Amino acid sequence: MPIVASHCPQHRFVIVDINEARIAAWQSDKLPIYEPGLDEIVKKTLGKNLFFSTDVNKHISEADIIFVSVNTPTKVFGEGAGRAADLQYWEKTARQILENSITSKIVVEKSTLPVRTAEAMERILNSNGNGLHFDVLSNPEFLAEGTAVRDMEEPDRVLIGGRTTESGQRAVQTLVELYANWVPRERIITANLWSSELSKLVANAFLAQRISSINSISALCEKTEADVSEVAHAIGLDNRIGKYFLRSSVGFGGSCFKKDILNLVYLCEHYGLPEVARYWEQVVKMNEYQEMRFVSKMVSSMFNTVAGKRIALFGAAFKANTNDTRESPALEVCRALLEERADIVITDPQAMDNARHDLGELAKRVTFEADPYAAAKEAHAIAILTEWTQFKELDYEKIYNSMIKPAFIFDGRNLIDHKKLYQLGFNVYPIGKPALTHLQSH
Ligand SMILES: NC(=O)c1ccc[n+]([C@@H]2O[C@H](COP(=O)([O-])OP(=O)(O)OC[C@H]3O[C@@H](n4cnc5c(N)ncnc54)[C@H](O)[C@@H]3O)[C@@H](O)[C@H]2O)c1
Repeated sequence: MPIVASHCPQHRFVIVDINEARIAAWQSDKLPIYEPGLDEIVKKTLGKNLFFSTDVNKHISEADIIFVSVNTPTKVFGEGAGRAADLQYWEKTARQILENSITSKIVVEKSTLPVRTAEAMERILNSNGNGLHFDVLSNPEFLAEGTAVRDMEEPDRVLIGGRTTESGQRAVQTLVELYANWVPRERIITANLWSSELSKLVANAFLAQRISSINSISALCEKTEADVSEVAHAIGLDNRIGKYFLRSSVGFGGSCFKKDILNLVYLCEHYGLPEVARYWEQVVKMNEYQEMRFVSKMVSSMFNTVAGKRIALFGAAFKANTNDTRESPALEVCRALLEERADIVITDPQAMDNARHDLGELAKRVTFEADPYAAAKEAHAIAILTEWTQFKELDYEKIYNSMIKPAFIFDGRNLIDHKKLYQLGFNVYPIGKPALTHLQSH
């Protein structure tokens, strides 16, 4: 929203949240999320046409357009637990909008929602009997964490879904005009409400599917001496396949992929399509397999035990350039290694606070070390779990000299020059490529 505000000085934007600490942090020197380039944009707009507040009711009442981007986590209770989206926050918000409105409004679904949610929202909002009219639009958010500013500044597309009624189409046009302040018109596409809602789930399912597909091939590469990077390069040059999202790794993470695929799976089951449900479910299962395969490889390579061994985890964020650790493969690897009674040290340039928070009780058994050199000191192994460029630029000779021998490095992101590491003396285990090891095999 700060980016929208920066392009639309003629409008006033107020971001409201019930979380007071977050609202305070947005107005401080340390924003609650790390996103390259975001600080400057917030500074530029704050107090001019961008405001933050916890007074949700007041700002509902004053607004012409309300963007709702509350959380829609996977349901943990009742019917659909573990797969369906928990819509309680969204529904509460709809009721709150209704209670505090004295004028008609456009309500925009920004959160990722199951297809046909807008129908339920329209029913709640238009059940007022006081002559107010609410148009519900779907405008899914396609930005990716880590590149959010660029994705908002130059989106591949903006999707707006609305009703085909006259008032629905008027609402769609209002939102088109807002985006047209900086997005070329040909990139602003409109659709019916249900296509728009479903497109977001499908986009995430397709993106995650590419990662799971290449990761499934990485397992085969490790058995056959094929190299997954070479395979990815070779197939990616086919225009029909394309080169993006073919980097094999320890797995995907983030708050959206898993939850959105499970939500899609649940929808398919709900509509009596079990084959379709199983097809997409496998994308999530493959990801869990890849994470656990990585841990098994660590344990078996280190002579079948890591108990009491110091292991440095380089990275906690689910990917580079974010402090987000939700569903991070790094934390899954951490949990599994703690089960094996390893002595874990985590280092990450941005995500240590969130990692500590997400690990909960387990955090007490982990050392957090801001300096990667100190983290690796006297460690038996390093596992690279986030593709931060900082980790690429370290002096691995210095690191090698400070470690217990034989020293192991498990590169879960294929980030570092493996040959060079091997020449320094490391036993190197990449993803989807032959291991480079000085150990005698029996
Ligand atoms: N994180 C992403 O990259 C991303 C990208 C695209 C779409 N989305 C979707 O956007 C939605 C939000 O994701 P997020 O990562 O920002 O979640 P989040 O949990 O970080 O943020 C949601 C915020 O909503 C606030 N909130 C909850 N109920 C409220 C209420 N009644 N009134 C005011 N504020 C309320 C919470 O306090 C919280 O700060 C989800 O549906 C997600 O799928 C997220």
